Amino acid sequence: MSGGDVWTSLRAGPLQGDVRVPGDKSISHRAVMFASLADGISSISGFLEGEDTRATARAFAAMGVRVEQPSASERRVHGVGLHGLAAAAGAIDCGNAGTGMRLLAGLLAGQSFDSRLIGDESLSRRPMRRVIEPLGRMGALIEAEEGGLPPLRIHGGRRLRGIDYALPVASAQVKSALLLAGLYAEGETTVVEPHPTRDYTERMLAAFGWPIRFSEGRASLSGGHSLRAADVVVPADFSSAAFFLVAASIVPGSDLLLREVGINPRRTGLLEALRLMGADIVQENRRELGGEAVADLRVRHARLRGIAVPEALVPDMIDEFPALFVAAAAAEGETRITGAAELRVKESDRIAVMARGLRTLGAAITETPDGAVIQGGRFGAGEVDSVGDHRCAMSFAVAGLLADGAVRIRDCANVATSFPGFVELANGCGFALGTAA
Ligand code: S3P
Repeated sequence: MSGGDVWTSLRAGPLQGDVRVPGDKSISHRAVMFASLADGISSISGFLEGEDTRATARAFAAMGVRVEQPSASERRVHGVGLHGLAAAAGAIDCGNAGTGMRLLAGLLAGQSFDSRLIGDESLSRRPMRRVIEPLGRMGALIEAEEGGLPPLRIHGGRRLRGIDYALPVASAQVKSALLLAGLYAEGETTVVEPHPTRDYTERMLAAFGWPIRFSEGRASLSGGHSLRAADVVVPADFSSAAFFLVAASIVPGSDLLLREVGINPRRTGLLEALRLMGADIVQENRRELGGEAVADLRVRHARLRGIAVPEALVPDMIDEFPALFVAAAAAEGETRITGAAELRVKESDRIAVMARGLRTLGAAITETPDGAVIQGGRFGAGEVDSVGDHRCAMSFAVAGLLADGAVRIRDCANVATSFPGFVELANGCGFALGTAA
């Protein structure tokens, strides 16, 4: 997909409307996985029809799971039970999805058959040692390319045993990979995190009937139980809402309502950061949806000021930094980001890509190894490269709203991995976003 669509984002606004962004990516991946391994038929509503999550659904179909699509954003999954998967005929293609590949690595390490996981250009550069090493301690055998890069060859028929593992970096993907392998392990698997991360795996395993103990930053489970089919309702993805939270905050006159957004506290660090910057975002109609807290988020334009982003917020807003870079470039004064070196190993090196792009538009940004220093001010026209990173592409589109001229954004096709229909939805709220193949 690399080198695909070019977008042009023009100064526009105010942003107005009442919208629901697509379903949560993290929850959609996990829902397909657990439903596939459960006994019985599960239904998933609000499923993200993105390339990443569709790749995960295809992976399970390739391993013998009947996955029906009664309508868009719905899946009916005929679970095959914990030991009911069959070897896929060929390699399993995870596309652009780190979550897909890392969680599957844990899950497939417990099967009786061998598997091979491949990914696109971006995923093929992402570090897998962080899962290979601890899964190896559990008894798994996973071979990677030099440097611990994909493709992964996962050997089946291994006896796994539970371990106690202290994660060196805060990562929900690594935690989840170990817990998934733990379903197949003898004894107890315990994962302790340096900072609590999103707990969807823990919560969803419990909802599917697996005994699990978890609290902030810690989770334990034992092998030898089973998963019961369950119905999953997927809230709107906070990470997709984030582009609109920033856009409406920075464009004068904006007043936008984002409906049914998942507000799990391990995801909403950006709300706190934007509030510290002076944003006007109100949570309305807080409620539970399928066991997750959701709210309608009303965001109105406000004058933003630069801040030092508290490091404690970083894991809770790890996917939102590309959008925050734009908020900071549009704010008054200086924003300092530290403690965010993980951004360099996401779908792209997000510190480098955002700094380069915003600098091209005239913003003053200094990169540091674990963050950036951004001077807010005006920025102008220019051509930027998203290098195929969906979140960078959408963030540059937000920057275009305030630029003194057209912002051309290269390589935007991968936006479909997490946010199908972004262009239409954004233009419906007041963006002036044009596309050309
Ligand atoms: C995810 C965890 C995070 C996040 C990613 C989704 C998940 O990755 O960046 O978009 O669904 O578990 P890390 O675990 O690498 O921090």
